[in-house]
Amino acid sequence: MSAKTKISVVDLRMEYVDENRGIRHIATDGLTLDVKENEFLCVVGPSGCGKSTLLSAIAGFLKPRGGTVSMDGRPILEPGADRGVVFQEYALLPWKTVLENVGLGLKLRGVAKAERDAVAMRFLDITNLTHAAEKYPHELSGGMKQRAAVARTLANKPEVMLMDEPFAAVDAQTRLTLQEELVRIWDENRLTVLFITHSVEEAVFLGDRIIVLTPGPGKVRAVVDVPIPRDQRHWATINANPQFVAIRDRTLALVRGLEAA
Ligand SMILES: Nc1ncnc2c1ncn2[C@@H]1O[C@H](COP(=O)(O)OP(=O)(O)OP(=O)(O)O)[C@@H](O)[C@H]1O
Ligand SMILES: [Mg+2]
Repeated sequence: MSAKTKISVVDLRMEYVDENRGIRHIATDGLTLDVKENEFLCVVGPSGCGKSTLLSAIAGFLKPRGGTVSMDGRPILEPGADRGVVFQEYALLPWKTVLENVGLGLKLRGVAKAERDAVAMRFLDITNLTHAAEKYPHELSGGMKQRAAVARTLANKPEVMLMDEPFAAVDAQTRLTLQEELVRIWDENRLTVLFITHSVEEAVFLGDRIIVLTPGPGKVRAVVDVPIPRDQRHWATINANPQFVAIRDRTLALVRGLEAA
């Protein structure tokens, strides 16, 4: 990880306004954080604190009411292929095969079939889905759908992966495998990842740093460094690692508001 800032969020205020009913909801206020190049940054915080809203602002789906969101020093004004988004719902097109789903972004950009199939197959290989290339989404397990969604995002060669609780819907066993695979993919592709999760354990396992948000409107309550070497991050052994346990417990306490930040 270099120290260069990839994404910068400064004093972000996000609001949902319902003009008809005269309702204004402040989702985040005074939220400042940055994501460094090649960093794996996790964001945790109570339900409704504004995590998904933050991600939508970085993705360019929602506009800030106040403050700025920028990437490489330029304001983010709209969605772009430089930022890939993986939602909790897999959002695969049910009438297309896995191979076609993974190649979809390339198709939209006008890449010829032979080339996009070749790229799609490479990312299906990376996500261990080669055997499922010709299947349709309804023929896949939850974990396979999730890996297909990750493969589809990677096939677009984003610089930044924005992931909103991507593994929440898969079973516990699959989740551990997906987490280990994601770390490998992140490392091999030198990606920058912003990863939202409810699970503190997941955040400590995956992250270089963890941002803990306050209850809504969300702002940063604490930043937790996770200096655990990558070669020690395996689920078979990490629960016996005292550093992991200490960081996990401290982060849990911060999320629950039991400890002064
Ligand atoms: N489309 C919307 N219209 C109005 N209010 C919304 C909308 N989307 C979110 N909100 C509100 O904004 C706040 C932040 O929502 P957000 O989805 O960002 O939370 P979150 O931290 O992702 O929660 P969770 O952990 O449950 O996914 C919540 O109070 C929510 O009710
Ligand atoms: Mg959310």
